[in-house]
Amino acid sequence: MAVFAFRGGPRLVLMQSLFIGLVSIVLLSCGSFGSQSDGTDLGKQVYKTYCVACHGPDGKLMLNDAPNLSVSKMSMEERVENIRKGGSMMPAFAEVLSEEQIQAVAGYLEQLKEQN
Ligand code: HEC
Repeated sequence: MAVFAFRGGPRLVLMQSLFIGLVSIVLLSCGSFGSQSDGTDLGKQVYKTYCVACHGPDGKLMLNDAPNLSVSKMSMEERVENIRKGGSMMPAFAEVLSEEQIQAVAGYLEQLKEQN
């Protein structure tokens, strides 16, 4: 849960328990992760690990004021930038994820849109 460690503050404990709770729900409901061979699988893996806590498995959870990613109009470049730097509530992931992981998860967000 080092993701939130650099954020600190009174929200930390609440965020951590939300994060752990949601991640376990998602893990339980998904059962198997399957193989992580290509870029899409990497993006999905990163998303399920770092993003579902606020955005939900389909991008629509909107917890902690997170926007609905399935209707986001951001370009690939804007998403990558947003994921690197974070926002007012969203953590910056540049320190946490590799460039490859950031690109992969930004690409995976396209799939959340197509599911609608
Ligand atoms: C702690 C909750 C939280 C986590 C974890 C989180 N986000 Fe966010 N995200 C937000 C919030 C809140 C916003 C709105 C901007 C802000 O206020 O920070 C946002 C905005 C975004 C946006 C911009 C969407 C738009 O159209 O405005 C994208 C893309 C995004 N997040 C992707 C991700 C990805 C990918 C991850 C995982 C690597 C992630 N987020 C993890 C809370 C979160």
